[in-house]
Amino acid sequence: MKRILITGALGQIGSELTMKCREIYGEDQVIATDIRQPKDEKLSNGPFEILDVMDGNKFLEYVKKYRVDSILHLAALLSATAENHPLKAWKLNMDGLLNALETSRLVKAQFFTPSSIGAFGPSTPKNNTPQVTLQRPTTMYGINKVAGELLSDYYFYKYGVDTRGLRFPGLISYLTPPGGGTTDYAIEIYEEALKNGRYTCYLAKGTSLDMMYMPDALAAILDLMEAESSKLKHRNSYNVTAMSVTPGDFAKEIQKHLPHFVMDYNVDPVRQRIADSWPNSIDAAAAKSEWGFKPAYDLENMTIDMLEKLTKQNSYF
Ligand SMILES: NC(=O)c1ccc[n+]([C@@H]2O[C@H](COP(=O)([O-])OP(=O)(O)OC[C@H]3O[C@@H](n4cnc5c(N)ncnc54)[C@H](O)[C@@H]3O)[C@@H](O)[C@H]2O)c1
Repeated sequence: MKRILITGALGQIGSELTMKCREIYGEDQVIATDIRQPKDEKLSNGPFEILDVMDGNKFLEYVKKYRVDSILHLAALLSATAENHPLKAWKLNMDGLLNALETSRLVKAQFFTPSSIGAFGPSTPKNNTPQVTLQRPTTMYGINKVAGELLSDYYFYKYGVDTRGLRFPGLISYLTPPGGGTTDYAIEIYEEALKNGRYTCYLAKGTSLDMMYMPDALAAILDLMEAESSKLKHRNSYNVTAMSVTPGDFAKEIQKHLPHFVMDYNVDPVRQRIADSWPNSIDAAAAKSEWGFKPAYDLENMTIDMLEKLTKQNSYF
């Protein structure tokens, strides 16, 4: 039976991953941690601890206290916030990761941390970006993610830590607000469409980026963690994606359900520059062949589900 500790557990991914892991492995088997106290009851069905990932001693103390054998390290500064606070991003994204990897090494825990499509840069092939390719990102977040992939590889080769990782695209979900990424518009658009019937997008209409719905992201993490280690040739950086879409595509799809929805554009140069440096679409063939990655949601069925769940969650009408 796994004993999992999750860092950054109150974030967009962590809040849903904690609930999913508790469903599968048992409520007491999953220790949620974050730098802040939870505001609601969402994660109150199992252990929660305040843990600043910059504090390596505390990290090790909790991992030993709960006899943890798997660490899912999610605490990080996301792309848009990192671009506005590059030094803070370097410190949290690198020192926090190193503490998490060192703790895993010391207690021989399995380890997972997400990379991102941000690990690619303007010189990377833009379409159907291969699993193994040129990675020269021009954002602080991207530099952190490439270094993170390499550090995770290093801990596997040098110390035998069972490290695993995914290059996530923009993740779309409705339970917890996103934490300052470049693809946050793809969540805001659904909320604003239902609330106000209009949305002003900060990326240009034709900006293609990869996206994935949260249930597919959670399944990908859990499937990768359960996969046979010997099959994982690209263990710390699998490309995963479910769709390549533009803001214009989202608007059209939403208009099928809400015909009066209006979208206009007011481009934010910082986030547009980040988005323009990322691929239009990535190739997830390695994830599919090495551990069976198979997303269930495309733009059409995700849109139906998002609109339905958001309507249930809030009373817009
Ligand atoms: N959400 C996405 O679309 C996406 C896409 C690609 C990769 N990722 C990666 O997935 C991971 C999690 O992303 P997310 O969207 O859940 O982020 P988020 O911003 O929603 O959550 C991050 C959490 O980390 C916590 N945190 C911040 N500083 C901390 C510290 N010093 N110690 C402990 N906790 C701290 C925050 O309180 C927050 O709850 C990150 O590594 C991110 O780069 C996310």
